Amino acid sequence: MKMLGKILLLVVLAIVLLLSAAITLTVGWRPILGPRHRATNDRVFEPTPARLAHGRDVVNLAGCGICHTPRNWKERGAPELPGSTMMGQDFPLPGLPGRVVAPNLTPDPETGAGRWTDDQMARSIREGIGHDGRTIFPIMPYSAYHSMSDEDVASVIVYLRSLPAVRHALPATKINFPVNLLVRTVPEPVTQPVPDVDRKDIIQRGRYLATIGCGCHNPTEHGQPLPGTEWAGGEVLEGPWGNVTSANLTPDASGISYYDEATFLKALRTGYVGARPLNSIMPFGELQYVPEEDLKAIYAYLRTIPPVKHRVDNSLPPTYCKFCRRNHGAGDQN
Ligand code: HEC
Repeated sequence: MKMLGKILLLVVLAIVLLLSAAITLTVGWRPILGPRHRATNDRVFEPTPARLAHGRDVVNLAGCGICHTPRNWKERGAPELPGSTMMGQDFPLPGLPGRVVAPNLTPDPETGAGRWTDDQMARSIREGIGHDGRTIFPIMPYSAYHSMSDEDVASVIVYLRSLPAVRHALPATKINFPVNLLVRTVPEPVTQPVPDVDRKDIIQRGRYLATIGCGCHNPTEHGQPLPGTEWAGGEVLEGPWGNVTSANLTPDASGISYYDEATFLKALRTGYVGARPLNSIMPFGELQYVPEEDLKAIYAYLRTIPPVKHRVDNSLPPTYCKFCRRNHGAGDQN
């Protein structure tokens, strides 16, 4: 009996060790321990006219309104529904692992962000932890906003606080098991001050702006970047706007090497590349208000990145692409 007891104990120990090793080597312990996070503080971002104007620019670049503002997708450029700026919406996307709701960010105290503190909002935007401590589902691109400077995030919040409060109650997000646990690996705290990028360093500034504004052109897997695909497109975007795949922005023949600065500015502001219209999920309706100097910096940066061969052609039927591991037009040509 004693012998059997020992063997059993050893078997149990071996199973525990194997399981620990398996967890450590695969998803890690975050799904069990909870996300990396920091406590919020009571800082307040002083509202100034400069911050308000700048915050609007950052919000237009970052595309917050694509998700937080209900829009009319039937019309070109997907204009906002009247009076609905940042009032949130139940996300109409297929294939999500549960119900995902983009919250009401207007200052309404009952149904919006009126009672959330400035630092709670800053933490949500850059670090992926909601005002209530919950892990935010990473369709909200907080990993792309992680590098947002302290001044930019303060400006965004000052701008959001300036919007008319809209009473718009929404259901809560509810992510299914096991994705609700797996997403806990994504949040990352900001623990150091994040200064602005030097405006004179156009390439670095372009890189900074592209990271915040052009994230859909970096395919991800389980909320993490897919190595080797930076700016090479391939994210499949499906919703009320149709089904399109983000374009390759690298200076390869399969990317946008044929662009010049004027083509780039026109594409971002009007949604036309020559005569070819872009799908309205490309937020040209917002980007037209982003300062020209910022768009030019993004273009200058994109000229300096390594070319990546990755053909994406939304006029062709979707086929499997072994490069980005998705189905998209011209996928079989990669
Ligand atoms: C691609 C869609 C998308 C974009 C773009 C986006 N968000 Fe979100 N955001 C969401 C969704 C969806 C949630 C809720 C996720 C959840 O409940 O887990 C969310 C959550 C949030 C929250 C958390 C609120 C809370 O519960 O505490 C804040 C704040 C927020 N977003 C602000 C912004 C700002 C500011 C921007 C632009 C800089 C932005 N979002 C861009 C989709 C988006």
